[in-house]
Amino acid sequence: MCNSSRPFSRLALWLSCLLAGGEHLVAATVSNGLMPQPAEIQAATGGRLAVAANFHLAVRGHDDARLRAALVRTLRSIEARTGLGFAHEPAGAYAWASDPTKAALVVECDGPALPVPALGEDESYTLTITPTQAILRAPTVVGAMRGCATLLQLLQSDGQGWFLPAATIRDRPRFPWRGLMIDVARHWQPIDVIERNLDGMALVKLNVLHLHLTDDQGFRIESKTFPRLHEAGSDGHYFTQAEMRAIIAYAADRGIRVVPEFDIPGHATSWVAAYPELASAPGPYVVERKWGVFDPVLDPTNPSVYVVLEGFLGEMAALFPDAYLHIGGDENNGVQWSANAGIQTFIREHGLKDNPGLHAWFNQHVHAILARHGKKLIGWDEILHPDLPAGSMVHSWRGPEGIAEATKLGFPAILSNGYYIDLCYPTRDHYLNDPAPADAPLTAAQRQLVLGGEATMWAEWVSPETIDSRIWPRTAAIAERLWSPANVRDVADMYRRLAIVSRRLEEAGLQHESYLPPALRRLAGDDATPADLQALRAFVDLLEPVKHYERGRHQPNFNQHSPLTGLVDCARPDSAAARAFASHVEAVVLGSSPTSLAEAAADFAEWHRLAGQLRAGLLQHSPRLAEAATVVASLDEATHVGDAALQSLASGRAPASDWLATQLAALDRAAVPHAAVEQPAIASIRLLAVAAAEQTKRASLPPDAWREHLQSLAQPAPPAPR
Ligand code: ACM
Repeated sequence: MCNSSRPFSRLALWLSCLLAGGEHLVAATVSNGLMPQPAEIQAATGGRLAVAANFHLAVRGHDDARLRAALVRTLRSIEARTGLGFAHEPAGAYAWASDPTKAALVVECDGPALPVPALGEDESYTLTITPTQAILRAPTVVGAMRGCATLLQLLQSDGQGWFLPAATIRDRPRFPWRGLMIDVARHWQPIDVIERNLDGMALVKLNVLHLHLTDDQGFRIESKTFPRLHEAGSDGHYFTQAEMRAIIAYAADRGIRVVPEFDIPGHATSWVAAYPELASAPGPYVVERKWGVFDPVLDPTNPSVYVVLEGFLGEMAALFPDAYLHIGGDENNGVQWSANAGIQTFIREHGLKDNPGLHAWFNQHVHAILARHGKKLIGWDEILHPDLPAGSMVHSWRGPEGIAEATKLGFPAILSNGYYIDLCYPTRDHYLNDPAPADAPLTAAQRQLVLGGEATMWAEWVSPETIDSRIWPRTAAIAERLWSPANVRDVADMYRRLAIVSRRLEEAGLQHESYLPPALRRLAGDDATPADLQALRAFVDLLEPVKHYERGRHQPNFNQHSPLTGLVDCARPDSAAARAFASHVEAVVLGSSPTSLAEAAADFAEWHRLAGQLRAGLLQHSPRLAEAATVVASLDEATHVGDAALQSLASGRAPASDWLATQLAALDRAAVPHAAVEQPAIASIRLLAVAAAEQTKRASLPPDAWREHLQSLAQPAPPAPR
């Protein structure tokens, strides 16, 4: 039976079932490298379809240029990965099989994609792979694209060559709105960044690119009607309309919608840098360079505001083909409105009650402008108000209750709370965050209104060089949450597959791994030896950026011009090395076999060696690494605690009664973030220290109670008040 519950053995069993031969289909457990997991997958026990130089493809049924382009991209990806060449001389074109019965892959669509991808478009497909042929069927060309993404992820090799495992997949998304928001306002992100991220999105079946185009720190789209907007607000870094059309076409070719956001009435410094008369307090204004929530806000009582909005939003409505236009609406702190006597009189005279009432009044006017231009309104959850016009969509970011409140009032909603990838939380937190969890207080009608979610890449702390490392691979797990059935929630299996899809994403052109060696060389300086660089890499692999909005506290003087090339920019969220160490510690404290003790001891020996190498080498020579000295010292100090804990566990003798308090205090000191980086491994060392101190209790406690006992004692001290 292929029903083991441990992911690795499930994988091995699945593959051995595949390779063992046989005729019938068996229900597969979660047992492959696919991310997102398909809605239904049956692994055939009948073997595999070889992928070799004679791999031919045929199109049956509907055929068009967008389908052909998607298939050529698929073939090129297979070629790049396998080294096989399918293109034929003299033109380098691909030869399509004229007889579908002879093709290795047959693609059969019932009809085209919509001219521009749209919310609710049918993305379903089936993929049947037998030892003689793969057949991809889909009602639309977009469905075929989703099937191609699955095919690329199924491709694998062994000693016998490249192959697609025999299987039948029936797949469709759980949610129709599966997005990635990229903030190009705070730090400019040029076209190549956007396009490579669109390629990554396509690989994990995300279908909405939300571009946050305007904010206090930048106005990033060309306006022909009001050119001062991008001229005064962008330092020359903006998308021309021709460039934006190219991005929209690139996205559409991948079945991805582009939803633009123009954040109003707050987050509007870049608007009023061009047109100070539109603000709610006298100017002049200049584009903001720092991070935070700022006062400049459009004046809803000023008729000129609506003249500009009518012209600008009309222009944007013509440029962006999507039905939705995001108007932001977040974080208007009300300072300028409250200080403006004319605005407060207006509120009273119009019976608007308060600033939120005025915001709702403003949104009604913006809604009318959008409606005149054939667009629907979406905004952050501050737009929710009883006066919000029907049909508007609410984008919840402040808490999951935003979804419940919006859908209760009958508004469709999407979720980003819990998907803030800029905050550098571990993948598992995002992965387990569900837009409509089974236990949420939602009626069936409300559930119908939950349309999906978006990962949000806010750009205070990312440059074009580092942005991929904050988006990927974690966003692949969010993509799975939004595509796959709700009960696909095995965290260990997610991490196993995340490591696989991460490689595919790099092959698709993303740079979340490849940015690192040059960034580390820059930190290390020209005299660094290969051994120095290896030590630096291993050390940095153990670090994570500080979480939530803590980086601003560590680097309070940083602004839009500051270089993002420090230690923290090389540290990546959700350290895989720290997770591997955590699993070694788990094995020690719950299993305590000699092997697990040896594994943890080897980790510590390696970390001491790294600290020694860095101290003797780079920390002496590289001015860029001065900020790492305290971090290296902390790792070394924590490792000494770990050594002592392991020795105590290996000897079976609990340490003296005051030992634990001293060690935990040392770990508290070591865990204080420096240089805006954290050391997640220290939490595991705490567990080890507690297990050593409490080991005499272990025999009397069942495993779960023992684990809970350890975890409760290992809780770090609450942070000191600031
Ligand atoms: C937001 O994060 N202010 C939408």
